[in-house]
Amino acid sequence: MRVLVIGSGAREHALLLALSRDPGVDYLAVAPGNAGTAAVAEQHDVDATSGDAVVALAQRLNADLVVIGPEVPLVLGVGDALRKAGIATFGPSKAAARIEGSKAFAKDVMTVAGVRTATSEIVDNPAHLDAALDRFGPPAGQRAWVVKDDGLAAGKGVVVTVDRDAARAHAAELLETGHPVLLESFLDGPEVSLFCVVDGETVVPLLPAQDFKRVGDNDTGPNTGGMGAYTPLPWLPAEVLTQIVEEVVKPVAAEMVSRGSAFSGLLYAGLAITSNGPAVVEFNCRFGDPETQAVLALLDSPLGTLLHAAATGTLADHPPLRWRDGSAVTVVVAAENYPGRPRVGDVITGSEAEGVLHAGTSRRDDGAIVSSGGRVLSVVGTGTDLAAARADAYRRIESIRLPGSHFRTDIGLAAAEGRISLGDQ
Ligand code: GLY
Repeated sequence: MRVLVIGSGAREHALLLALSRDPGVDYLAVAPGNAGTAAVAEQHDVDATSGDAVVALAQRLNADLVVIGPEVPLVLGVGDALRKAGIATFGPSKAAARIEGSKAFAKDVMTVAGVRTATSEIVDNPAHLDAALDRFGPPAGQRAWVVKDDGLAAGKGVVVTVDRDAARAHAAELLETGHPVLLESFLDGPEVSLFCVVDGETVVPLLPAQDFKRVGDNDTGPNTGGMGAYTPLPWLPAEVLTQIVEEVVKPVAAEMVSRGSAFSGLLYAGLAITSNGPAVVEFNCRFGDPETQAVLALLDSPLGTLLHAAATGTLADHPPLRWRDGSAVTVVVAAENYPGRPRVGDVITGSEAEGVLHAGTSRRDDGAIVSSGGRVLSVVGTGTDLAAARADAYRRIESIRLPGSHFRTDIGLAAAEGRISLGDQ
């Protein structure tokens, strides 16, 4: 099978490595890719958000399957263009990608499907902001204000704060730039990212993972696209996982079918396990980053075969997934000043080792690998348990040099020390 992966992050590097382990995959290409993906796939410099350009490339490469990594091409309809050209595609249609592209759409789907989620309100008029803030946040009995950009914002459009002025300032800034704001009630409880391969009403869950969104240890500092992740979750009972699949993901998949926008691809449920059970924080229409880097490290089943089955409507016939024993942890190495405007152009050494996935990297004319984005590398460790996987990931990071870089030192730590329990809420 000839596979083309669209995207340029560590998620796509992880997808390519897992695809390269599938004996059924004999050719891999990536567009546009990064300095790390060049070692595993042929690189093609096309505009990943242009349906015409991606179709032309897939046809030129004779691709049997195109896997679209990021949300932006999906929300823009690149998947539709590929399907229209008769190319098997892993990734939802533009209509189905609205589950991530519009939080208001996602809320409506969840309401109709009877799925528990935060209560919310869209504000699109600055004159209504103060009254709306008064209906949310600590004075309204919540622990914090949750202020989100209604559209795509790469994880950075979200502010969770107990400071009303900070909540107001973020909302006002979004409104000033023409972005409707979503105010939400705060969902208390440990968070879970559950990725499901979905084709219509067929749902195949992967291992659950947990992501670390704040930039600093102990969940301090601003939100980022994600600073690390681990899988599986030793504190999550199997029956809660089943509950998420049966009471959240399947009803949403069924509702998408009944609206005529069946979802085909990766449906990512981000949840909080509250004292009232799982509640959805958000849905995404693609593999999550950085959780994918950890989850795929434990996948034993051939990934190309799985994604091709979803893309061709035969997911229901796919055999049950096999997983390696043990745990996986990924730790993101970020550039100086990330999540603000990151410093780029620094030379990186030690990044061509096993377990080091690339995101914001490029190769300079003199051959040096340099930083070119905020999240630069995603280092993956595995082990017989979470403590061993953490030790493996942090040992690998010691060999990497990137001036000014930073990473969290506590990815998976609370879970490894048994400090997460559902009784804590
Ligand atoms: N892990 C967060 C995201 O992929 O959006």
